[in-house]
Amino acid sequence: MVTAPMRVLLVEDDRDYAAMLVAELDAAVVEVQMVGSVAAARAELSRGQFDAVLLDLGLPDSNGLATFETLHASVPETPMVILTGNTDDGLAALAMQRGAQDYLVKGEADASVLVRALRYARERSAFRQSMLDRESHFRALVEHSYDAVTLLGPDFRILYDSRSIESLCGYTPEERVGKAVEHRLHPDDVAPVTGRLSELVQTSTPVSFSYRFQHRDGGWRWGEAVATDHLRDANIRAIVINHRDVSERKEAEEALQRSQEQLRQAQKMEAIGRLAGGVAHDFNNVLTAIFGYTDLLIDQFAIDDPRRSDVAEIRRSAERAAALTRQLLAFSRKQVMQPRLLNLNEVIRNVERLLQRLVGDDIVLQLDLARDLVAIRADPGQLEQVLMNLVANARDAMPDGGQLTLSTRNERAETAADTRPGLAPAVYAVLSVADTGTGVPVGLREHVFEPFFTTKEQGKGTGLGLATVYGIVKQTGGGVYLESEEGQGTTVLVYLPQAPGSSAISDSL
Ligand SMILES: Nc1ncnc2c1ncn2[C@@H]1O[C@H](COP(=O)(O)OP(=O)(O)OP(=O)(O)O)[C@@H](O)[C@H]1O
Ligand SMILES: [Mg+2]
Repeated sequence: MVTAPMRVLLVEDDRDYAAMLVAELDAAVVEVQMVGSVAAARAELSRGQFDAVLLDLGLPDSNGLATFETLHASVPETPMVILTGNTDDGLAALAMQRGAQDYLVKGEADASVLVRALRYARERSAFRQSMLDRESHFRALVEHSYDAVTLLGPDFRILYDSRSIESLCGYTPEERVGKAVEHRLHPDDVAPVTGRLSELVQTSTPVSFSYRFQHRDGGWRWGEAVATDHLRDANIRAIVINHRDVSERKEAEEALQRSQEQLRQAQKMEAIGRLAGGVAHDFNNVLTAIFGYTDLLIDQFAIDDPRRSDVAEIRRSAERAAALTRQLLAFSRKQVMQPRLLNLNEVIRNVERLLQRLVGDDIVLQLDLARDLVAIRADPGQLEQVLMNLVANARDAMPDGGQLTLSTRNERAETAADTRPGLAPAVYAVLSVADTGTGVPVGLREHVFEPFFTTKEQGKGTGLGLATVYGIVKQTGGGVYLESEEGQGTTVLVYLPQAPGSSAISDSL
């Protein structure tokens, strides 16, 4: 294999020594060019490509280590071998530290030593260059990757952040380096995250985790990270974390879960409604027969016959049963409606005195009714029933008295996201019934609209009040929602859609 000779720049002001050296070197192996000063060497180096520089330190325009440093600074990538008369070991060590490839003493190095030194110098420098290239290649990969890369020390402090951290959290690497990993982490996530990292350090098995962090803009985001332990890796000595913003995905997942829960709830109410409707319907047929036969029977007894009052008692019981089935039918939305265009405030005022009597003296009833409420289309009798049921519940939740506020307002939902579950975007007249009573515990809230769900003692409640409200409101095209904090009262919100084609009916008062 024929290789091109190595191109060497010999910087030496002693012409005789230089000529002797060149004569000793095999021209097929080393092709030498000679200059006698630092200035000439710089000029030469800027013009041509040299594989190595053979450098004397004592030159007319420069002396000692400065000679090397000046030239090395101008062409840092070209390997330099120092060839000097100075045998000072300290100087040799210093020159090597500053980046000289070798330090040879004149007279001690023959041609073969020189050639070997030059060759090694070239190889070492090429290797170093390829390492630098690779490092900058990987650095560029890290810097430009979409994921942010963070390095942590054993104390979980940030040693390094890639540039992409700024688009992730709004802070620059300079602002973050030196801070603890908790920086801008959600308080609730600090313990889980440091726990996972401690686990990583103990087991050296990569860990992944999600966490919330605060962006510079103040908003909270979701992050997802994979951490690997390189603390014992001599080249890295850090915990390496790859992380990214997954807020959009998290939000989509949460929205999906919410809508699935709402769908399940709606389906359950639908199924219970069908069941209740079916039972009530068949039960009504039975009751019709009971009414028919009791009416026939009663006529067969004389007015003073004691059995006559027994039969009347049977009829009264059947009437109570019929009242129950009517409520069930209301829940299953099978009640006959007589809807008309009306203003919700008007319905409230009509029963205000009745409601006042219902709540008694210990409860302060307050009305807060909006002007220009949109018109709705509903059965006023049914809406009165809704009010009575809600007010009765509020009263029962405040046995020692309290405050009950009935209010109305308009609410406009432009998109499905603006509005409550199960409601279409529209304009609604909203009734709010708020009490300062016991509240409803968390686990019970999703059951309150089910028929026969009651927490009241036997004989006090049938559990049909809210089921009836639910049925009536649904039949009117609206929705009903219960908000409650245990011990802090309850608010029931009834949404009734604006009647199609109507404008606000101004209050009659
Ligand atoms: N304002 C409220 N404050 C606290 N709990 C309430 C309130 N409204 C409803 N609840 C809870 O919801 C349950 C169901 O209410 P619902 O009106 O359907 O039945 P009920 O009041 O128990 O019986 P009834 O059929 O006589 O109305 C109640 O038993 C109570 O536990
Ligand atoms: Mg009730």
